Amino acid sequence: MQSPSTRVPLTARRNGPLAGRLRVPGDKSISIRALILGALTVGETRVCGLLEGGDVLNTAKALAALGARIEKIGNGAWSIRGVGVGGFAEPADALDFGNSGTGCRLTLGAVAGCPITATFDGDASLRSRPMQRVLDPLERMGARALVSADGRLPLTLKGARDPIPIIFEPPVPSAQLKSATLLAGLSAPGETVVIEAEATRDHTEKMLTHLGAQIRVEPTANNGRRITLTGQPELEPRPIAVPSDPSSAAFPLVAALVVPGSDIMLTGVMMNPLRIGLLTTLYEMGASIEKLDARNEGGEDVADLRVRAGTLRGVEVPAERAPAMIDEYPVLAVAAAFAEGSTKMRGLKELRVKESDRLAATAALLRENGIVAEIDGDDLIVHGTGGRPRGGGLVRTHMDHRIAMAAIVLGLGSERPVRIDDGTFIATSFPGFVDLMRDLGADLS
Ligand code: S3P
Repeated sequence: MQSPSTRVPLTARRNGPLAGRLRVPGDKSISIRALILGALTVGETRVCGLLEGGDVLNTAKALAALGARIEKIGNGAWSIRGVGVGGFAEPADALDFGNSGTGCRLTLGAVAGCPITATFDGDASLRSRPMQRVLDPLERMGARALVSADGRLPLTLKGARDPIPIIFEPPVPSAQLKSATLLAGLSAPGETVVIEAEATRDHTEKMLTHLGAQIRVEPTANNGRRITLTGQPELEPRPIAVPSDPSSAAFPLVAALVVPGSDIMLTGVMMNPLRIGLLTTLYEMGASIEKLDARNEGGEDVADLRVRAGTLRGVEVPAERAPAMIDEYPVLAVAAAFAEGSTKMRGLKELRVKESDRLAATAALLRENGIVAEIDGDDLIVHGTGGRPRGGGLVRTHMDHRIAMAAIVLGLGSERPVRIDDGTFIATSFPGFVDLMRDLGADLS
């Protein structure tokens, strides 16, 4: 647990309108995949635009301990010399993923297909998150896990010498679970199949294709996918360009919507259709967001977004949309607090097992600041103020970067300042957040 002396409390206050252009850092999901897949190629992979946040850097350290050579060669530019599929070396010490669920779970998959034993660990937040869901398919493929009965870190994984390809239907919509299985499947002979009931972010599939693996993605009924990977490819090193993270862009974007008079431009934001559920929802709420210069960069759709403040109205967000905006609910709930009428967000069960119990933490952050919010089963209902929420609260962030940033956005538009107990974890996904927001005119101290 973070000791109180190393905490960095922050206060966000109402100020003038937000204005200016900004480019948020690289996508966390793609950055982590670039490192892991780069480590599994033979030769040198060059990555530009890599997110240099805590989660990514912790994953890089773990991969280096597994034998990859990873070097920073410029601002956001990194070189990875991989060991080839199945080629990881046994690490001398436990791998510490810090706060990163994605880094930990995807590396579990990659290690499961190597004949080595490794111990996985993380900070107090990661130690509280479920790992058994990932171990289930990996154990079916022949890996063996030594893990406590509650399926939490630390755990030791013995990879399979001869991994078995499986057909896996994830019990929850999770790109981490899908990706871990596919990464283990890289070492297995024949076809590993993942059948998703609901499509989740497809960055692993896209990057595997980019690096020369044979992978087939077929649509199934009700927006599902059947993904078939042919194992034991030799991945070819090819350059990877990381686009800006839409989950990070979400914070300045909502801030500009709720601070009166604001007009900002977010440049080069990734528009992957499986990541933009927040935009769909904000359009339904009546937000003024103009998509400009839509283009393709490094295999992903990107666009510049001009965002202007205006009136929002409450909407109902269907459960089927959750995979495409799973990390955006805390900040959507903040937008909903400014809207006219209620916003009902359905089917948020998975929020309970994020960096914190985000369903509880989001409701608490709103209530602490005078906003009426209810949790009804797996749904969150926010009663909008149709103007400025009261604010004035102290928000407990629970080692969760997105709760911290959502609370700050609330404070920028509410009547009274909003304080958070600790801003340190913001750097796991969005280093430079405070300075970028100040450049737009935000009052953060
Ligand atoms: C991620 C998948 C999501 C998301 C996380 C990043 C990924 O988690 O919440 O921030 O990069 O695959 P789940 O797969 O557990 O839903």
